[in-house]
Amino acid sequence: MEKRVAELADRLVAEHCLEKEEYAFLIDHRSEALASRLAEAAVKVRREIYGNAVFTRGLIEIGNICKNDCIYCGIRRSNGNCDRYRLTPEQILSCADEGYELGFRTFVMQGGEDAYFTDERLSGIVSEIKRRHPDCAVTLSMGERSRESYQTLFDAGADRYLLRHETADPVHYHRLHPPEMSWENRMRCLRDLQEIGYQVGCGFMVGSPYQTSRELAEDLAFIESFRPDMCGIGPFVPHHDTPFSDQPAGTLELTCFLLSVIRLIHPAVLLPATTALGTIHPRGRELGILAGANVVMPNLSPTAVRNKYELYDNKICTGEESAQCRGCLAQRMRSIGYELAVDRGDIRRS
Ligand code: 5AD
Ligand code: FES
Repeated sequence: MEKRVAELADRLVAEHCLEKEEYAFLIDHRSEALASRLAEAAVKVRREIYGNAVFTRGLIEIGNICKNDCIYCGIRRSNGNCDRYRLTPEQILSCADEGYELGFRTFVMQGGEDAYFTDERLSGIVSEIKRRHPDCAVTLSMGERSRESYQTLFDAGADRYLLRHETADPVHYHRLHPPEMSWENRMRCLRDLQEIGYQVGCGFMVGSPYQTSRELAEDLAFIESFRPDMCGIGPFVPHHDTPFSDQPAGTLELTCFLLSVIRLIHPAVLLPATTALGTIHPRGRELGILAGANVVMPNLSPTAVRNKYELYDNKICTGEESAQCRGCLAQRMRSIGYELAVDRGDIRRS
């Protein structure tokens, strides 16, 4: 390994941070040897904190109706070919009940920005899940809302909120989103969520259009300072009905490399091996765990709607029942020497 690269790697392992230019340098000069060195260190720190547990979150995709028009996303409002759906509160509750029976202790409700899901409706669903299953954590992933709304949902019992920052660079952000969306509001949401007391997840796509090592270095510096409890990163995968349909997908190699770096920056962070990673490679999620991830999110959505929540092409797990999905992942984790954990999997704060 080149001397400067080796030196930066050692410093990242020892000090958990680098300067922005140094992150970019590491990314630009990465090699198989560097990736192995960082993955080994990442797995070691993760093992010290979490042992060989991989946490599971049951993902319920509650609707694909969305007022936003993010250029990369298959459920953007201008996609006229998207078959829209929305689960009823009863359907959502029965997904959670089924998940509970399967052993899930955290549920993630994810959906497009849909005016139907008012604070009142969402609060009702959240508090009913918490009433039925008080030992569970409820996570929301419902996009940008007002601070008051986040507060109301928190008061109703929501524990965690996932809102990917998408890119920490405002210029890059504006190239991925329509003019009416703003990086500033995204950041405002993330700050509000943290101040209210949620466990907060941010994240970004690897290999999104126009992304270079400079943007990625901004993302890593952002993660260093924001200190999210969770960080969702997965490859960008083009969707055929979006303006980015001809753009190349992000790679397994770079995603795994960044998983290791993020684990080293923030040893206790909850880091999913995402469905998108499993989509671009048959063993993507296993390889993500071996690079430093420690969360998987099997799908609990009703099979009838699964293929409609199509953020990108060829998404996996659309044909399987919830139990099959969970069994499949348990088996996959066992094949690499890890066990699915059954508890809520809260972040270990030191
Ligand atoms: N490829 C990969 N990830 C995507 N997302 C949206 N569209 C795509 C795509 N084409 C991610 C975004 C969003 C999350 C719910 O899914 O980062 O925050
Ligand atoms: Fe869903 Fe394998 S994890 S089918």
